Amino acid sequence: MQALLFDHSAPGNLRLGSVSDPEPAADEAVVRVIASSVNPGDLYLDATPEGSVPGYDAAGVVVRAAADGSGPAVGTPVVTLGFAGGWAELRAVRTGWIGVAPAGADLAAVSTVPVAGTSALRALHRLGPILGRRVLVTGATGAVGRYAVQLSRLGGAYVVASTGDPDANGDQLRALGADEVVREPGDLDEPVAGVIDVVGGERMVQAYEKLAGDGVLVSVGHMSGGGEHFPALAFSGHDGRNNRSITSFFLGAYAGLSTDLSWLAARVADGTLSPGISRREDWKNAGTAVQALVEGRDRGKLILDIGQHA
Ligand SMILES: NC(=O)c1ccc[n+]([C@@H]2O[C@H](COP(=O)([O-])OP(=O)(O)OC[C@H]3O[C@@H](n4cnc5c(N)ncnc54)[C@H](OP(=O)(O)O)[C@@H]3O)[C@@H](O)[C@H]2O)c1
Repeated sequence: MQALLFDHSAPGNLRLGSVSDPEPAADEAVVRVIASSVNPGDLYLDATPEGSVPGYDAAGVVVRAAADGSGPAVGTPVVTLGFAGGWAELRAVRTGWIGVAPAGADLAAVSTVPVAGTSALRALHRLGPILGRRVLVTGATGAVGRYAVQLSRLGGAYVVASTGDPDANGDQLRALGADEVVREPGDLDEPVAGVIDVVGGERMVQAYEKLAGDGVLVSVGHMSGGGEHFPALAFSGHDGRNNRSITSFFLGAYAGLSTDLSWLAARVADGTLSPGISRREDWKNAGTAVQALVEGRDRGKLILDIGQHA
């Protein structure tokens, strides 16, 4: 089969090449991939072995069901998550990380769900109940942030979106469900019950400072690249500010994501959730498109079109 292979001498460290078809384990189905979305995690390439196939996200159609009887049948449109192997004509993926997409769904749109959508959803679960509570989302225009804003709103929260450029991004964030848009967490007037943070650094310190008592900050990402310096007594509880916590997050640690993947794919397919695609490219152009992301000349959600519906 054809696949995108890491080649550290090629543009974007990627070249199209031939590899053996995947040999599925008993709990894996084989999917013919139609589209994949590119995540920041796909771009951290330094330690990646030459010749391996990257790609966390992939949406496509099952061409071989899992031998153990789990998961969807042949012909089912699906959305899949894995640590690698998504940027290939065929992907073997364990059925616990396969969601069913509605018939006729735009598989490019649902391919944005696995990393970004399920991370936002699972991180929000870590906040506990959000109905009627204030939730802050940092890096709100990013893929995780956009889903977190939309899902927080769906969950009945008052949503505060923090974005580096509120003048440019305010309208789109309000259209996604943000009640309030700020430049940085330090600008908040009132405390929040929960924070989904993808920026880290000084913004995380500010966000923690805005947490109400019993509030939870989930640290999903560190786009700023900065570390955190908390002032003295930041962690001492006092009246109204007790039991605040910061928790780390790793999507790969979750089993049983199928239900979430299916639920999110259905919400994208029916238009409840906007996938926020900013660019689509034939996978033959993946190298130059990924290079533009790595070098900061492009940003937003890139989709690679890998195959076509039968
Ligand atoms: N822990 C996990 O399991 C897990 C899972 C998924 C993702 N992640 C991580 O979460 C992070 C976000 O992923 P994503 O897919 O949402 O990325 P993304 O689509 O590239 O968006 C990231 C957003 O962060 C903000 N940002 C970017 N560079 C920044 C900088 N230098 N300083 C401050 N803010 C900056 C921008 O938002 P504004 O312009 O709106 O401020 C940007 O839109 C990544 O680090 C990713 O690796 C972790």
